[in-house]
Amino acid sequence: MRMNAGIEALAFYTPGFSLGLEALARHRRQDPQKYITGLGQQRMSVPPPDEDVVTMAANAAARALEGCDLSSLDSIIFATESGVDQSKAAAIYVHQLIGLPTTCKAFEIKQACCGSTAALQMAQALVTLRPDKRVLIVASDVARYGLGTAGEPTQGAGAMAILVSATPKLLSFDPESGSYTEDVMDFWRPNYMDEALVDGKYSIKIYLKALSESWNGYHADSGRRFEDFTRFCYHLPFTRMAEKAHRHLARITGHGELTHADLETHLRPSLRYNQVTGNSYTASLYVGLISLLETDPIDLTGKRIGLFSYGSGCMATYFSGVVVEGYREHLRADQHQRMLGDRIELTVPEYERFYEHRLPVTGEDYATTVHTCGKFRIAGIRNHKRIYEQVSDLSEPMPAASGVATLSRV
Ligand code: COA
Repeated sequence: MRMNAGIEALAFYTPGFSLGLEALARHRRQDPQKYITGLGQQRMSVPPPDEDVVTMAANAAARALEGCDLSSLDSIIFATESGVDQSKAAAIYVHQLIGLPTTCKAFEIKQACCGSTAALQMAQALVTLRPDKRVLIVASDVARYGLGTAGEPTQGAGAMAILVSATPKLLSFDPESGSYTEDVMDFWRPNYMDEALVDGKYSIKIYLKALSESWNGYHADSGRRFEDFTRFCYHLPFTRMAEKAHRHLARITGHGELTHADLETHLRPSLRYNQVTGNSYTASLYVGLISLLETDPIDLTGKRIGLFSYGSGCMATYFSGVVVEGYREHLRADQHQRMLGDRIELTVPEYERFYEHRLPVTGEDYATTVHTCGKFRIAGIRNHKRIYEQVSDLSEPMPAASGVATLSRV
């Protein structure tokens, strides 16, 4: 049977430093249960000063491409809302760092957290037309809000990489989808700001409206119903959002109030990784998908998964895919779980020092201190150019973390 285009390989990366939300809550004089139960978050990843969206994406991409014939790559598409240059695509830095062929195109795409899904749909169309080609999607972001703001516990950082091809080994996408676009100001980041501006409560309302509208479009396009899905993945600004969204979807499709057991079965495996990495904007839905495939106890072969992608501002898409036979052989659960478990725990003052570090914006040369636990780092700025370097061989395990002792030298 001929399969639709889909995911041949996928991987994610998150920095080697994290902050426990219980510690953050106590420091900010909040009840820890607000963050842990109310938002559904336990930890958040914190990028050190020598990592950015390029280095995180390169780490994820290097993993996803292990064993891939690079000559078949048509393009690398980089989705981010934490861009590092107004003109040059972050994809070109990654292209060089992971040694892609010069025949492979490289460009960047943006629409808040939904840019990665737009990239994925472009890639599906391309490999459907040209089944001999592959497309690499990378999505990488640092979720930053102001210190002490309501958004602070929903920060995080990470990147994902998905290899899209006509011969998927993990998930085959259904061709139908439903989308919704409306000009709203729920979340945005002007060029002169390092932190996003967000109307948090409004963004939740718009997220749910966009879910209804996208679902209606998806249902009209495909005829599929709520009960046609075994599992559901949602964009995860914080994991409680998935619960709100899933309850909402059940209500608008006539399934009334879901039980706690329904939520655990439909959602829990897709939340495990995001609960400890925090938000990674463009990557977050796909980190959830990886978490589902790697931690769900049942064999998902042949099961249909519903996916909802939301990008503030706003654009949203509901789409779906079917899990491919043999998918478990192509997962990287050990690698991913070791990376999450090996992270160095920061104290709140250490996290604040990392948070406050900025590369200079006035044009002087600058060298960063070595902190990264990944394979790539930004070494600094020279003549207004970002200088990236590889820290260790791609075939070696991730280098040991640099240690908390170095944290004072940001
Ligand atoms: N124990 C258990 N739960 C608690 C609690 C406690 N002590 N205190 C509060 N809570 C619950 C609240 O009831 C609420 O849950 P509910 O929504 O089911 O009612 C949840 O914790 C959050 O509390 P709330 O007072 O609504 O938080 P907030 O106003 O400080 O901010 C966000 C929450 C999400 C709006 C904020 O973190 C934010 O702006 N994040 C960034 C934007 C974002 O993620 N948008 C999502 C769509 S993209």
